[in-house]
Amino acid sequence: MAGAGPITGKLDNIRKLEDLGAGAVVLPSLFEEQIEQEQQLIDRLATMGADNCAEALTYLPAPESYSVGPAGYLETIHRASQAVDIPVVASLNGITDEGWVQYARQLEEAGASAIELNIYFIPTAPELTGRAVEERYVHILQAVKRAVKIPVAVKLSPYFSAMGHMAGQLVEAGADGLVLFNRFYQLDIDLTGLTLLPNLDLSTPAEIRLPLLWIGVLSGRLGASLAASTGVESSDEVVKYLLAGADVVMTTSALLRHGAGHMKVLLDGVASWLAARDLNTLDSIRGRMSQRKVADKTAFARANYIRVLQGY
Ligand SMILES: Cc1cc2nc3c(=O)[nH]c(=O)nc-3n(C[C@H](O)[C@H](O)[C@H](O)COP(=O)(O)O)c2cc1C
Repeated sequence: MAGAGPITGKLDNIRKLEDLGAGAVVLPSLFEEQIEQEQQLIDRLATMGADNCAEALTYLPAPESYSVGPAGYLETIHRASQAVDIPVVASLNGITDEGWVQYARQLEEAGASAIELNIYFIPTAPELTGRAVEERYVHILQAVKRAVKIPVAVKLSPYFSAMGHMAGQLVEAGADGLVLFNRFYQLDIDLTGLTLLPNLDLSTPAEIRLPLLWIGVLSGRLGASLAASTGVESSDEVVKYLLAGADVVMTTSALLRHGAGHMKVLLDGVASWLAARDLNTLDSIRGRMSQRKVADKTAFARANYIRVLQGY
């Protein structure tokens, strides 16, 4: 699958990804915060100087005639869902309860096949407990599930103290799929200008380890699909995720780095890997190296420092 990101925001790319064999696409997220900010800006512009000069208002079109709001996004969903046969998954990043629910409904009405909840939340307030953070995820999911009929997946952060339990709570609350993991931007410091730098690096294959571990642990244990997201650069990472138990594998950075055409490289690579072993279905490898299936189950949780040090 093509994961959420700029590539899937363009209809041409979506068509191309389908032609090349992508199983589905996730659109970049609709951000409630951005919609609110745009609306506030328009409101400010519309009222600027209005007290001094009544005509000032007439220089600006009425706020509702600006193309703020989710209209463009909904149009993309609508057009994409008409243009391709593969599922077009909408992604939503809300801030208020009302926003999550209201936009989720609109995404469904526009023709989205499913919704991915991009719950991008860094609990910076020290008084916020782990339980409160978990409840927030569950609460958002339940509210959206009540509002729509299409499947809803939750894109998780890796920062839960008990990932297995968190995943289970979400499935119990109705999650149809879990996406492991979201990749939060981590800021850096510019030592010359002493400014905070937003860090927007693309991922590398070394980053598959954490999602690989949790997909391996959770595979076969939850009544929801598992999607792997992070670190896919070549077909090797796709095969590893499938072996660990991913139902689907997503890629965003690699498509940005190499273009939408890279989807074919990934799919051809997986096909060659299977063919070299006389295998012809993804099901023949899915979950084969999951914790449930491997003989050494402790390998998923063991601290291997000693073993590593023995090599030095
Ligand atoms: C430039 C860029 C834009 C992204 N935009 C979104 C987004 O709108 N919504 C979202 O849920 N994830 C977004 N992501 C995160 C990706 O969907 C993905 O989860 C993450 O990059 C890890 O996958 P990757 O290693 O294949 O890039 C974005 C990532 C990048 C690099």
